[in-house]
Amino acid sequence: MEQFIIKGQRPLSGEIKVGGAKNSALKILAASLLSDKKWRVKNVPQIEDIERMTDVLKDLGVEVLSIGSGYYSLDASRAAKTDLDPKLTRRLRASIMLVGPLLARHGRVRFSHPGGCVIGKRPIDIFLAGYKALGAEIKERGGGNYEIFARKLKGTTFVFRIVSVTATESLILTSILAKGKTILKNAACEPEVVSLADFLNSCGAKIKGAGTSTIEIEGVNSLSGGEHTIIPDRIETGTFAIMAAALNSHIKITNCNPSHLDALWVMLNNVGMKLDIGKNYVIVEPSGRLRAVNLKTHEYPGFPTDLQAPFTVLLTQAHGSSLVHETVYEGRLFYTDILNQMGANIIMCDPHRIIVNGPAKLYGQKVTSPDLRAGIALVIAALLAKGETTLGNIYQIDRGYEKIEERLQALGASIQRIREK
Ligand code: EPZ
Repeated sequence: MEQFIIKGQRPLSGEIKVGGAKNSALKILAASLLSDKKWRVKNVPQIEDIERMTDVLKDLGVEVLSIGSGYYSLDASRAAKTDLDPKLTRRLRASIMLVGPLLARHGRVRFSHPGGCVIGKRPIDIFLAGYKALGAEIKERGGGNYEIFARKLKGTTFVFRIVSVTATESLILTSILAKGKTILKNAACEPEVVSLADFLNSCGAKIKGAGTSTIEIEGVNSLSGGEHTIIPDRIETGTFAIMAAALNSHIKITNCNPSHLDALWVMLNNVGMKLDIGKNYVIVEPSGRLRAVNLKTHEYPGFPTDLQAPFTVLLTQAHGSSLVHETVYEGRLFYTDILNQMGANIIMCDPHRIIVNGPAKLYGQKVTSPDLRAGIALVIAALLAKGETTLGNIYQIDRGYEKIEERLQALGASIQRIREK
């Protein structure tokens, strides 16, 4: 296992470039199963979750070629396997995105529940209800194993009981080759959903309304080949902006799309940050005194749950008491125990709400990343803290942030990757 050794309280400055969006690339790669023509995809982040997804695609018989950093060619024309290997899928929750395309292309799929994680049990009831509504037959084999059959999927109207990003994306992929029209209501509006629909439409799909809560998909017979560039990662963008604010540093974040983060810019202004927001960059200026604010996560275009942990670290430095309400996941606040070990003053009211009292002096500790976004939040806390922090289980951070220590070193941070002793 590897660890980061981080020495805090170094002033940071300079520019940091944002990579391609993990939560867009994972779906675009999975969607390649729908076409028997070649797809080329650029700006794919070189991160562990992408490695896990390509492992599963290759196991299914998809020819996946990396033709340059972040540039992939995908050819699913000879992919005939319809059983998802649980040894591979248990390492990637997003492997659920392969179920719909396999069902749409081959009429059958066998898979195991992709597993929950520390942020929540991650049910798949909405996925299964959607496949059934499209005419599929679902057999539960016990122990979280499923077999789904569909002679011919038929268009339907499906209402999501709650907004779900990957369930929305999965039902778009599952209905693309179905007979007739599918209408999805109470669908997710994330930019990653829009980008997926835009690319699929460029390959001959007929999807209308992506980005709104009602999406219409007219079934087609097949998809053509295509070329796509993954959109910038809005969560990386937001993470770096929050890091700059927490460290009171002058940092320019480049190669990003600030229009995907309106709710974050409002919160950073409310905290007292000065921001210069351009078309594809954001400059965060030191602002001195940070103000406590109340934060509530919400589906897009609200404040992203994936930025809640980094923002909570920022709030430990704000003057006053802040209420953080995590509305999406039931297990996404437990990392705050680790922040308290580092000197923060955070009270957990219930699994969805905490009170953050600031400002609090943080001190370096020996800690472990519980998950991806809490992991990067602990990196920010360590950069803030007095003294040295040893951060373990950094695979969790490598899942979603490419070469993160190299990019932070370029800003002046003291962060080294070492093999655990
Ligand atoms: C996507 O996860 C993202 N992952 C998550 O990012 C992100 O936090 C989340 O959307 C919310 O924005 C990817 O895109 C790969 P949901 P997803 O379904 O789709 C419940 C990261 O750090 N639910 O929108 O899995 C679910 O438990 C990750 O990059 C059901 O109850 O999230 C949650 O409480 C973490 N039944 C709520 O819906 C279902 O069948 C919303 O989750 C499906 C979901």
